Amino acid sequence: MHNVLISKEIPAIAKELLSSSGLKVKTLDSGVSLTSLKREELTDVHGIISLLTDVINEDFLNKCPNLKVISNYAVGINNLDLDELKKRSILVGNTPEVLTEATAELTVALILMTNRNLFSASSSVYQGTWRGFSPLEFLGPNLFRKNVSIMGFGRIGKKVGEILNRGFQCNIQTISRGNEWDGKAKISIDYPVQFLCENDFLKTADIIVLTAPLNHETKFWLNETRLKKLKDSVTIINTGRGDLVEEANLIDFLINHQYARFGTDVMSIEPLDMGHPFLSLKNATLLPHIGSATFEARSQMAEICAQNIILGLTENRVLKGPNLN
Ligand code: DGY
Repeated sequence: MHNVLISKEIPAIAKELLSSSGLKVKTLDSGVSLTSLKREELTDVHGIISLLTDVINEDFLNKCPNLKVISNYAVGINNLDLDELKKRSILVGNTPEVLTEATAELTVALILMTNRNLFSASSSVYQGTWRGFSPLEFLGPNLFRKNVSIMGFGRIGKKVGEILNRGFQCNIQTISRGNEWDGKAKISIDYPVQFLCENDFLKTADIIVLTAPLNHETKFWLNETRLKKLKDSVTIINTGRGDLVEEANLIDFLINHQYARFGTDVMSIEPLDMGHPFLSLKNATLLPHIGSATFEARSQMAEICAQNIILGLTENRVLKGPNLN
């Protein structure tokens, strides 16, 4: 009998699928962290459904001598030490595709929330500080026809571009890698996209959207040098990972550019410490990592996670997983 551990309660479909495949499933109680478990508690575990907050590294894997497959309940895999997993021949699964639309629509919602001051405007109603219609209160820029620079033009980035181009007639731009065109387009996108050099990408952006995966190339990508090239009135949106930006540099930028705005669904350290400077910035809008939080996406993620484990333990393969070569 194979044992599967789920790091935290996820939609019930996962447990149903795993149990009906004859696997013994245990979900950790809320408040118990996967990585704090002792070797004795992990020795008999063959499959794990991990969360993006579980750091799966050498130390943790040393406690899991019988682990065959790890299935991350996320598309992002920056919490996994892939080299170490590969070395130990542990299969790795994740949940791409099914959260693309959910995350893209949340990204668009966050742009509107940030630019149109939706949090402070709504709060004024609840707090009783709203004094009726006011011609000069809560003003922000239109979204229609703006230049939107998307860093991370994968599935989610492309979907954000599609919504903004089709729905808001935005001019979508991304950074050219120099290989987009080879007689015919290599990247298939059915709306207009400008492939720019990094400098133009940064300089012309009214809105810059970060949807890239976090890895050694993208870590702290939005640093002091790049921030200096942005418009004073730029809106920066992050729905990728907190560490795509150098938080300290960004905080200085937001303090010194009162017309710039920042909307983020992700932070370097989650949950955010209540003393964090983001909380006192009037031009920052913060959400608690809810990009994929739709009923549809979260339940399909659970289904894929379970399939990854089942296939991993029975056929030595996963349904969806990163390329480890
Ligand atoms: C992911 O999947 O990587 C998101 O950040 C959470 O669903």
